[in-house]
Amino acid sequence: MLTYFLLVLAPFQILSSSIPATCQTLPPYPGRDGEWRLLHESIGVSAMHMQLLHNDKIVIFDRTDFGPSNLSLPENKCRHDPHDDVLKIDCTAHSVLYDVWTNTFRPLMIQTDTWCSSGAVLPNGTLVQTGGFNDGDHAVRIFTPCNGGDFCDWIEFDTYLSERRWYSTNQILPDGRIIILGGRRQFNYEFFPKMQNSLTASPSSGSIWLDFLRETTDEDENNLYPFIHLLPDGNLFIFANNRSISLNYRKNTVVKRFPTMPVDAHRNYPSSGSSVLLPLDENKDIVAEILICGGAPQGSYEQAKAGNFVRASSSCGRIKPMEENPSWVMEEMPIARAMGDMLLLPTGDVIIVNGVEQGTAGWEFGRSPVTRPVIYRPYGRPDWRFSVMSSASRPRLYHSSAILIPDGRILAGGSNPHVWYNFSNVEYPTDLSLEAFAPPYLSVEFEKIRPQITASPETLRHKQAFSISFFVPQYLTADVLSLSIIAPSFTTHSFSMNQRMVVLKLVGLLPLSPDTYILTALGPSTVDIAPPGYYLLFLVHAGIPSVGSWVLIQ
Ligand SMILES: *[C@@H]1O[C@H](CO)[C@@H](O)[C@H](O)[C@H]1NC(C)=O
Ligand SMILES: *[C@@H]1O[C@H](CO)[C@@H](O)[C@H](O)[C@H]1NC(C)=O
Ligand SMILES: *[C@@H]1O[C@H](CO)[C@@H](O)[C@H](O)[C@H]1NC(C)=O
Ligand SMILES: *[C@@H]1O[C@H](CO)[C@@H](O)[C@H](O)[C@H]1NC(C)=O
Repeated sequence: MLTYFLLVLAPFQILSSSIPATCQTLPPYPGRDGEWRLLHESIGVSAMHMQLLHNDKIVIFDRTDFGPSNLSLPENKCRHDPHDDVLKIDCTAHSVLYDVWTNTFRPLMIQTDTWCSSGAVLPNGTLVQTGGFNDGDHAVRIFTPCNGGDFCDWIEFDTYLSERRWYSTNQILPDGRIIILGGRRQFNYEFFPKMQNSLTASPSSGSIWLDFLRETTDEDENNLYPFIHLLPDGNLFIFANNRSISLNYRKNTVVKRFPTMPVDAHRNYPSSGSSVLLPLDENKDIVAEILICGGAPQGSYEQAKAGNFVRASSSCGRIKPMEENPSWVMEEMPIARAMGDMLLLPTGDVIIVNGVEQGTAGWEFGRSPVTRPVIYRPYGRPDWRFSVMSSASRPRLYHSSAILIPDGRILAGGSNPHVWYNFSNVEYPTDLSLEAFAPPYLSVEFEKIRPQITASPETLRHKQAFSISFFVPQYLTADVLSLSIIAPSFTTHSFSMNQRMVVLKLVGLLPLSPDTYILTALGPSTVDIAPPGYYLLFLVHAGIPSVGSWVLIQ
């Protein structure tokens, strides 16, 4: 166990406050474009929704109402569901639990329909998954991670929600509740759990009207799966279609309305761009900045229905919603993309992966899959912001997803552009495979400067100092160190709910030997910056990340 005591006794270097948030010290090597590896030809289900849990297992599921999957339920179990549109008796699994370290998976039993649902992990590590279609549209499903015998499975509450939640978005809140917002023809939000929490004074049973969701719907809807990000001022940034607001969910008041995003494109389902809150850096004055990329020009969905697959949007926009008069700053991606997944990497860069260059989300409406991810460096030189990576082996269109895993790889899976599991006789067959992308920072040539966390605390408190010890074969300088926490996302339909990254404030570095050090940092400063829960702690040295260790922020 590391103690602060040790640091007080030993002489240590006080780190200057000018430590860069993310280290952009690597020169551009054109040949360095990452590497894909196929992990499984089939995990039995299409990875429509994915959530990494703090025991390094990933809950993956698609939907229950489109025929038999490619994986049987164990012990001759079957689902008897008189409400199901397709199979009243179904002996196949529609959810699996995948183990990152052993690369194995086992079927899970899900009863109600999870199609186009949403989720968030509670501060105690339990996944709460909400809504869906048909008999699942009012359901709440709980999955608590377990080790050992590993018999844990879904627990379902079929009628928990006040409204039907199909294509809604969830966000974990600083008080441990989850807000569930929007969905098809739902211009409102509600909370889980329903009971009033003693920490808040807001009315929380039943649903609360939000006119912004009605205002942003159009003939193609285009405002489903709204993008939500919890801002450091405690309000929620909500983006739908091409507009955005800041919402005080405690008082149900719209605090700010931001300018309409310029460029004629829609960003939410079915146009399906993606959005991230860029890393919040505690080493400077906290600046919240949102990045939204891709989507589809106005009318693309109607055009796709008529068989014309319009080129997707290639634009990205950035906005700082907590500034006095924020405005959008637009940039161009090297590849146009709809249904791209945007994920934060431990370096603070953003990877954009999966999706199509033409058409939109929705059955059969995507064409020209983009198999090359793009890495975006938010603070890189303007001429070196985007890098195009190597090509995946599989097209990943509608109903594909991607997440970050602890060793810094990106897991990508799924693609089911059809109503059924159609494995043949279609242009883009349903895909049950799982593939992993190793970004350039995992290249073996960086082993000498790759840090390894050798000890870190299991829990952290806000504002409290803590220490980690690390090993690095070749230490450069303290100027290229950063320590960050990343909350694992619930990813579906090109949006990673609850994804956030905080760069922690560094306060001291103590060398123990030429390759071993103790680094002291402060826990995140507020619950609005980092709501309680499990995060991955990554140390980055000269742009090369360690493997992430789990830490519970209490
Ligand atoms: C179904 O699973 C088997 C392995 O159990 C695999 O060989 C086959 O490729 C899978 N089918 C599809 C369409 O992925
Ligand atoms: C976390 O809280 C939820 C809701 O109260 C509960 O159902 C679940 O069992 C808890 N999980 C753990 C690991 O205690
Ligand atoms: C924003 O979206 C609305 C609704 O689809 C549309 O009428 C409007 O023209 C769009 N604005 C811009 C600037 O694209
Ligand atoms: C997909 O599969 C379903 C069910 O097997 C079948 O009815 C349908 O015709 C298939 N679609 C195509 C485009 O082949």
